[in-house]
Amino acid sequence: MSVSIKSQKEIELMRHAGKLLEEVFMGMQDMIKPGISTLDIDKKCESIIRSMGCVPNFLNYSGYPASVCTSVNEAVVHGIPRADYFLEEGDIISLDCGLIYKGYHSDCARTYPVGKISEEAQKLIDVTKQSFFEGIKFAKAGRHLHEISAAIGNYAESFGYGVVEDLVGHGIGTSLHEDPAIPNYAVKSRGIKLRAGMTLAIEPMINQGTYEVEWLDDEWTVVTADGKLSAHYENTVLITDGEPEILTLTQM
Ligand code: MF3
Ligand code: CO
Repeated sequence: MSVSIKSQKEIELMRHAGKLLEEVFMGMQDMIKPGISTLDIDKKCESIIRSMGCVPNFLNYSGYPASVCTSVNEAVVHGIPRADYFLEEGDIISLDCGLIYKGYHSDCARTYPVGKISEEAQKLIDVTKQSFFEGIKFAKAGRHLHEISAAIGNYAESFGYGVVEDLVGHGIGTSLHEDPAIPNYAVKSRGIKLRAGMTLAIEPMINQGTYEVEWLDDEWTVVTADGKLSAHYENTVLITDGEPEILTLTQM
């Protein structure tokens, strides 16, 4: 396994790819209201990305048919936008999206409430987000990758939540998915030693109930096996000798 170390020049490009992706999210999140179709969100997403002169990196990735993943309620990730799927008050929706700027990828996900949601749903969203921040306490040169994994998983499990194991985070750079794979749960090995200049997409996927997931017949949408809710939170992160730099988080 070889994990790329980005040069100063590459880091500048990754920073910009991250900043632009945030602007895409700003545009999409304003649309999240009851009655809108998930395809409307995708159309807006793609048009913002293209207007920046960038390319949506999910579109046609292994045949994926859209620019954003729209995963509602029990959908964990990779929900496909549809013209006939409308958001309803009380839903939660995870948007996962990325783009390519001058050959460099960014990748980011957030779970949003649709109108007013239950306290339990909000708690799942909040814990999923916090699990990311628990994880990146260990995202520093000299620490080991699986310290991040364990911190994410142990935090989420302390609330009784299920931590998805069938999907993981990943390195990112000139490809959307690079080494290393980044589990969101404690594993026996320490994992690679982190070094300044690594860029990682860290992305806890946390379920209200069982950690087990299934794939729908569309071969993309991953859902919880028990039909309970799931949330997702992802940022592209730069490892430094000090605090990690979150490339997709300056304003949201
Ligand atoms: N953001 C997803 C990930 O982190 C990528 C989805 S791939 C797609 O791995 F094909 F669904 F777009
Ligand atoms: Co990702």
